[in-house]
Amino acid sequence: MFGRRIAVAAGALLLASCTAEPLAQEMPKNADRIASAELGVAGTGFGDPLPGLGTAELTKFGVGETEFTTAEDPADGLGPVFNEASCVACHLGPGEAVGGTTGRLETRFGRTRADGSFDPMAEFGGSLIQDHGIGFVSVPAGTFTFVGETVPPEATMTARRRTQPLFGLGLVDATPESTFRSIALLQAIFAPQIAGTPSVVPDPSTGSNHALGKFGWKAQVPSLFVFSGDAYLNEMGITTPLFPNENCPQGKCELLQFNPAADTPNDDGTGVVRFNDFMTFLGPPPRGPRNLKTGIGNAVAAAIGCLDCHVQTLRTGPNAVAALDEVYYHPFSDFLLHDMGSLGDGITQNQATGKLMRTQPLWGLRTQAALLHDGRVTTIEAAIEAHDGQGARARARFGRLDPFSRDALVAFLKSL
Ligand code: HEC
Ligand code: HEC
Repeated sequence: MFGRRIAVAAGALLLASCTAEPLAQEMPKNADRIASAELGVAGTGFGDPLPGLGTAELTKFGVGETEFTTAEDPADGLGPVFNEASCVACHLGPGEAVGGTTGRLETRFGRTRADGSFDPMAEFGGSLIQDHGIGFVSVPAGTFTFVGETVPPEATMTARRRTQPLFGLGLVDATPESTFRSIALLQAIFAPQIAGTPSVVPDPSTGSNHALGKFGWKAQVPSLFVFSGDAYLNEMGITTPLFPNENCPQGKCELLQFNPAADTPNDDGTGVVRFNDFMTFLGPPPRGPRNLKTGIGNAVAAAIGCLDCHVQTLRTGPNAVAALDEVYYHPFSDFLLHDMGSLGDGITQNQATGKLMRTQPLWGLRTQAALLHDGRVTTIEAAIEAHDGQGARARARFGRLDPFSRDALVAFLKSL
């Protein structure tokens, strides 16, 4: 048993050294960058821009933040069905920090076809519910009252999804696809029981059909730019050149004749660029206090296999923005899909079938009030207990930890 643990720990170290941690001989060259990234992370508050941005970048961040916090109304194109009127309505916190999460849940639904495949029930407005409508409208076509969508009785499954915090995702966006594919490859060699799957998705901004999905609980979206357009449409009902078609309320496309926002698309793409700027330059969550105990907990997390999926350190690729140029950061995620067994949400998006979920980054964990994709638990211990499928082994090892190691691990997780 001990021998196997050592093997896993060694594998984790190997993974870390190949993919993430700076190799010894690289240290001098990059030491200043690492040091400044560490300092920057320590000195940054939730919702602050990345440390080291230039004036022009800070201006873009500010303009983007304003767009992100602006509530739209039906005249701007909001709706006819939507979830909230602004990004910040869901992406706020801790405190007043713009870009976090209020813990707002959304609902998806679907059913299983006769051949066993997932049916997102688009003809009923699925799989994502827009739970608000813009209400009464009087337009040339007549009068109508738009209401929020509901789960149709024909659906056989529903799933809740918790709003994710957005801190530091610009770093993830700036990390080459090849990094994530290499991690998957190394996992397959050194830790095949937990090996992740790269999420292959279409990218409407490039026309590619095999981009790497990094964002969302199912890694269903390839970039912050695409997520900006996707969320503008699916959360707020605002169409853009990237996503030009309105969602049909509850799947009834004929109702769009009553849509009061006649301009198509509702936004010329400016909003999407601004959301993207804000998220690109939004700094990572500041790390909480560290001490000897959290250091030991970090080693325990590596030894029992947590960090095989929750990969500690990644590095961005070459980037024109100095603050994003080949910098190390600590998201505690591989951004790959894993079979989580009973923890899966049953929904299929692209190749992410029911049990496949993206490793949730653990940076900023100490500020999360509810955990896991549906916010089903409120403690770190309960979140670990819910790990199933490829996560079951790490869960079992957690269960066998002596009280000292367990305590150190939890202290470490609470320092993130
Ligand atoms: C009604 C609440 C709500 C609103 C409004 C909203 N979001 Fe989100 N956001 C979510 C939820 C829920 C998720 C998780 C989605 C999923 O994977 O199903 C999410 C995920 C994201 C992610 C992926 C985060 C990650 O870790 O991969 C990005 C990026 C994002 N939102 C950007 C935006 C932007 C930009 C806007 C405004 C245009 C916006 N969101 C508006 C609820 C919301
Ligand atoms: C096989 C890969 C894998 C391993 C191993 C793993 N996790 Fe996870 N972890 C995930 C995935 C995937 C999620 C998101 C699951 C969901 O919510 O549906 C997650 C979610 C979490 C969350 C919830 C985060 C949040 O913000 O909601 C915590 C906490 C967590 N893991 C801690 C751990 C710890 C501690 C260990 C080691 C005992 C561990 N994980 C091992 C893949 C893994």
